Formats: sequence, C-alpha cells, structure tokens
Amino acid sequence: MSNLFKIAVFISGTGSNLKSIIEKQPQYPYQVSLVVSNNENAKGLAIAKSHNIPTYVFKWDRNDSYLSKVHNQIKQADCQLIVLAGFMKILPKGFIDSFQNQIINIHPSLLPKYPGLHTHQRVLDKGDKFHGTTVHYVNTELDAGKIIAQSKIKIKKDDNKDTLAARLLFREHSLFPYTIYLIAQNRVKWRENELYFDQKILTQPIEMNE
Ligand code: GRF
Repeated sequence: MSNLFKIAVFISGTGSNLKSIIEKQPQYPYQVSLVVSNNENAKGLAIAKSHNIPTYVFKWDRNDSYLSKVHNQIKQADCQLIVLAGFMKILPKGFIDSFQNQIINIHPSLLPKYPGLHTHQRVLDKGDKFHGTTVHYVNTELDAGKIIAQSKIKIKKDDNKDTLAARLLFREHSLFPYTIYLIAQNRVKWRENELYFDQKILTQPIEMNE
C-alpha cells in the first residue's frame, strides 16, 4: 500500500478544481483516492473515471440517510482529508463532527467577506478594489471555518462577474492543490485547537498571488 496522503474530493458540477488537483499529483505528495458526488451528471465524474479514480454517487435527502454510506466509503478508501471542490450542498453537523478538522473547502471570495452565493456580483456592487478566493476548514457555519490560504486579484475597471469568475477560477487551480500539498506535508496542521503553518500559529492567511 502506498504511503501517499489520501484524499476524497466532493463535487457537484464541472470539476475544474478536481481536474487541477488530479493533474498536480505528480508534483505533490497526495493521492485522490475517491471522488464523491451528489449529482450523477456531474462532469467531474468523467474526469475521475478517465484517471481510474473510484467514484461514489449518492442521492441527497432530508433525512441524511446517505451519510453512513458516504462515511464508510471514505473510511474504506483510507482518506485523511475531504476536499470540497464545488460541492453545492451543506454537510450536516454529524458528518462534520465525525471528520473534525479534516474537511476543507474553496470559496470564491476573500473570506470573511462575502460568504454564500453570488460573490462576484456582490464584490462589484460594493465597489471593492480587490477580490479573491479562500481555502478554509469547514465547520458547521457557512463558509466560516478557519481560513488557511488566499489568492487575491485586483479588480479592473471593465471587470464584470464573468471576467472575475474566470480569473479567480484560474487562481483556484493553483491555490487549492498547493494548500492540499501543505496539509499532506504536515506543514499546515492542527495542534490543541490552533492551526500551525511551518511550526508557527497561523494568524494571517497564507498568500499565493500568482
Ligand atoms: C468554484 O468557483 C469554487 O470556488 C466554488 O465552486 C466552483 C467550483 O468550480 N466553491 P469547479 O466545479 O471546480 O469547476
């Protein structure tokens, strides 16, 4: 069995972040061991299959009856981290509690600004000078867990929500794999409820601005 750090990636749609995470595997010491989706038509499932990565599709319901099966899949695949990459459902508290500090998400804003949806338009409406994307740990509040890393872009005069979305997605494709790499290398790690980066308590997001 390989010693690589195993991750499960959850998707709901296109899966461009999943693709970038998979494609960085040769240079980063992690392995995508499972792709989970609530949407059987998610394009990202085909990307996983083309790389021979096992997939698991579940049907969302209000009673959370799918949860124990998803949980078992992750345990069987021996995953140490759950990566939400365009996963459009809110995971229930019981699930988050059972993977405490083992779930990360990418959100298209400079959190704590603009949690939730329509971030690009909200940034434009406010007249902000900068926009960005954030990788953070997932807790039971929406987009509110501990921030790990961010990538920032300057907003141009002629930007609209689509140009911002495209530029940010491009940044996400570097930021997300790099953050997973830092966790896999134990350079980002939890110790007694504090998050450390390279042995120091993380007080500011790690920045990756290229
Ligand atoms: C990204 O914009 C990400 O910030 C958000 O969902 C989108 C996922 O895109 N959480 P993709 O499916 O990875 O292409």
